[in-house]
Amino acid sequence: MKKHIPVLKKESIEFLAIKEGGTYVDCTLGEGGHSLAIVEQLKKGTLLALDIDSKHIEDFTKGTQEIKNVRIYARNANFSNLERVIEETGIEKVDGILFDLGWSMDQLDRMEGLSYLNKDAELDMRLDMTYGIMAKDLLNGLGAKELEKLFTEYADIRGSNLKKLVEGIKIERKRKLFTKVDDLNKLIDKTFRFDNAREKSKRMGMFSKVYQALRIAVNNEMYNLKLAFQDLQKVMNVNGRVCIITFHSGEEAILKSFFNGNSKFREIAKEVRPTVEELLENLSSRSAKLFCYEFIG
Ligand SMILES: C[S@@+](CC[C@H](N)C(=O)[O-])C[C@H]1O[C@@H](n2cnc3c(N)ncnc32)[C@H](O)[C@@H]1O
Repeated sequence: MKKHIPVLKKESIEFLAIKEGGTYVDCTLGEGGHSLAIVEQLKKGTLLALDIDSKHIEDFTKGTQEIKNVRIYARNANFSNLERVIEETGIEKVDGILFDLGWSMDQLDRMEGLSYLNKDAELDMRLDMTYGIMAKDLLNGLGAKELEKLFTEYADIRGSNLKKLVEGIKIERKRKLFTKVDDLNKLIDKTFRFDNAREKSKRMGMFSKVYQALRIAVNNEMYNLKLAFQDLQKVMNVNGRVCIITFHSGEEAILKSFFNGNSKFREIAKEVRPTVEELLENLSSRSAKLFCYEFIG
């Protein structure tokens, strides 16, 4: 299983301006790369790490018992409940919050339906197992207009490609309902008829887009982010910083509509991209952008 390489780690830690004795929240623990960097910088203080994936919480709890002088709380929770989780942990206010959005490399292999490579997996895609709707339910149940909206908003599929895709789904599900990853793979191939040898990158691009759109919809990703942003000013100390690493134009749009012109926050950094060195080490960082804001009360 591939190990997740934390993206824009140095930059995000720098912009968080970590103060000794402070309290920090990593809303997206993952494999803990950013959390451990926060702990290292903090030396003394508190870290609350959240993840909707219970495996990440278990692994981190096992691996972090040794860290002295930093009190660590790890919670299997959705960041859409940010204020409640902070309150339940007994923390009053925090000095910094990090969001590193999306999913981690190990989840792609481990979780049902996230990767088009695991052909026999169920088309599930839920990261948060408390959610009831799976990717196959969306493919089998949404109307044409809703499918169009989903693929346009979350994957920027438009025009004739969009029409072909939605039409293909409608025809296919009448014949046989979608259940496995391979059902969706075959539908994409049948719809677009990519020439495997010559159009490999186009084909991979379409697979990535379709899978991304479904994952975002299944996990309410955009709505969760909106909810978390609404809690920021209730939980942050004045001069506290929030860093957000985005990978998708939809996340960026939500961020901009919340922070741009918001008199409670001052912009510290925007659209910071990975360096060439980072890109060479980790190509998956190529669409990452870091934003940082300070809560000015
Ligand atoms: C890109 S990974 C984070 C990687 C991490 N920074 C590291 O260095 O290993 C994103 C993580 O956020 C988690 N996640 C996604 N949406 C979430 C949500 N709404 N609430 C809590 N965790 C979430 C995913 O399960 C995943 O583990």
